[in-house]
Amino acid sequence: MPRFTPDFLDELKARLRPSDVIGRYVKLKKQGNEWAGLSPFTKEKTPSFFVNDQKGFYHCFSSGKHGDVISFLQETQRLTFVEAVESLAEEAGLPLPVETPGEADRAEKAQGLAEASGAAAKFFAAMLHRADGRAAMTYLTAREVTPEQIEAFAIGFAPSSRSALKDFLINKGFTEETLIDAGLLIKPDDGSASYDRFRNRIMFPIHGSRERVIAFGGRALDPDARAKYLNSPETPLFHKGSVLYNYAPARIAAAEDKAPLIVCEGYMDVIALWGAGIKRAVAPLGTALTEDQLALLWRAVDEPILCFDGDKAGRGAAHRSVDRALPMLRPGKSLRFAFMPEGKDPDDLLRAEGAGAFHQILADELPLVDVLWDREIENHALDTPERRAALRAHLRDLVKAIADKDVRGAYGADLARRLDERFAPPRKKWEDRRTSPGGGWRGKPGDRNQRYAPPARPTADLKRRGAPSQWSREAVFLLAAVNHPALIERQESAFFDLDIVDAGLKTLLSEILAVVSANTGLDSAALKSHLTHTGAAGPLERVLNDPELSKQRFLRPEAEIDEVEQGFRNSLAHHLSESTLKQEIARSASQIFTDGDEGWKAATTAREELINSNRTSDAEARDDGDSPKRFEDALERMKQSVDTKFNR
Ligand code: UTP
Ligand code: MN
Repeated sequence: MPRFTPDFLDELKARLRPSDVIGRYVKLKKQGNEWAGLSPFTKEKTPSFFVNDQKGFYHCFSSGKHGDVISFLQETQRLTFVEAVESLAEEAGLPLPVETPGEADRAEKAQGLAEASGAAAKFFAAMLHRADGRAAMTYLTAREVTPEQIEAFAIGFAPSSRSALKDFLINKGFTEETLIDAGLLIKPDDGSASYDRFRNRIMFPIHGSRERVIAFGGRALDPDARAKYLNSPETPLFHKGSVLYNYAPARIAAAEDKAPLIVCEGYMDVIALWGAGIKRAVAPLGTALTEDQLALLWRAVDEPILCFDGDKAGRGAAHRSVDRALPMLRPGKSLRFAFMPEGKDPDDLLRAEGAGAFHQILADELPLVDVLWDREIENHALDTPERRAALRAHLRDLVKAIADKDVRGAYGADLARRLDERFAPPRKKWEDRRTSPGGGWRGKPGDRNQRYAPPARPTADLKRRGAPSQWSREAVFLLAAVNHPALIERQESAFFDLDIVDAGLKTLLSEILAVVSANTGLDSAALKSHLTHTGAAGPLERVLNDPELSKQRFLRPEAEIDEVEQGFRNSLAHHLSESTLKQEIARSASQIFTDGDEGWKAATTAREELINSNRTSDAEARDDGDSPKRFEDALERMKQSVDTKFNR
């Protein structure tokens, strides 16, 4: 049964005037039967946003958005449907529907506790401004907490007395039982009188989703107090692990700033950030982030940023968050991490160095996968095959923890790539092989020096056993280069990046690039003559004499350079999409982290199938429309064969 019946929703909307609700967020002016204002969805100078109270809806002409008060709150305040309804119901004085008598009782009881907590918050706030609260005020001032911050966070003070709050609230008509249940009083087991839980502490009210006070955090003024911070106990109203300090306001600020939520460790960090104009910060209440809290974060933004101390403890806490989050990752939903300078929290940093320093920390944030990878690399020695295998196995286990299939696959691929890069020897680049007298290749490859090749894999056999279409696809580029050396200069980076699988063609490419780099302005005949003296003479001959290749007009020696270039580009586009498919397959194999021969045998089989299926369809038609399908099939077969081999 849905939580809210249509009758309930109708009643709710009937009780509220849309212009009242919406008018709190958008400045509205009466215009005939309607109200008009500037669109909250777009930036505009002339009003195109209209609210119609009779019909109970708004319409925005600039964005085309249209809806009622519920969808308005959902859209502009980033509330869920249920949250929007709950907040409107409270405003309308409409009791929320309850499903069972037990729930009704509980809701009523929770409401009573919330009222007591709200009254307590007012009491604490008042105390801060009284004589009793002078030391507390002095302390806050010394920490550079402004009156604005005190007001915005309703910061208060609990006096040293054992019964100041108790006396006040009992006087107001709250029962002792309610105050005990709300966690405001402690009732000793020995039957002696109940007393105030919070004494001589700065008080931070904690708000729930409906803006009501549900708990408190209290910071000791006395440096010798047993706990620096004391939180309310678990109550029917307050479950520490499902609440984030400052969540509701931060969520609105994040939506307004179009920026992620920031998670820091303490109350004072949230408050200090607010003072520095960063109002989208929240904090868990003295524990590591729970699943519920992660869910809250992801309800508001895709990638909240977690701030941690840069020291060992902070890194440990970050790693616990990584492990907690891994199973819960969803497409688009992740965490990012910002590390503070050692021993500093955001509050310290802001006071010492100002907002700029914090923005710099934010700018250096890292994605979750980097934090995970760095940890594993640090924790594993990688100097022997056994240790590398241990890392691989450990990563596989971590990846397995990700529940979402797509994210799991993407993580497998990403970590596999990182492993490959880590373990592979640096690629021997063609220009490194020869010290060219001409001063090397003209266009400097620059940062491409950093690139690494994937490790050598058993592909040569496969090539020889029958993939002519693969060979001729690659040979196209070589023939184009040999017949038109000018093309190499025009397509310099493309040639440099060309991924050639066939061993002979690969050698030929290196030799061509080496010769060209050492001898500027070579024509085709000169290039060929140079190449005949290298190890690439065999492949060259095969390329020059292949009857299929020379059927393509743009490859012929007499073709115009523009035509050559056009043909080259077309072939390149085709080649890139093909080799991406193959990379995906290779990756999928390492993605499942099948190490050693067995796994690669399976991957190789799959590649062979892929190539064969290409050949078949090449023969039938050159139309590649069904290529993704073939790829899927081949990938599926490969996965199956890997699975059966490893009994998974
Ligand atoms: P910290 O000990 O890092 O304190 O606790 P802080 O936030 O920097 O506090 P100040 O700046 O000295 O005032 C971080 C958070 O851990 C929780 C609180 O939520 C605190 O904000 N905590 C800490 C507790 O719940 N109990 C404690 O005894 C200490
Ligand atoms: Mn601090």
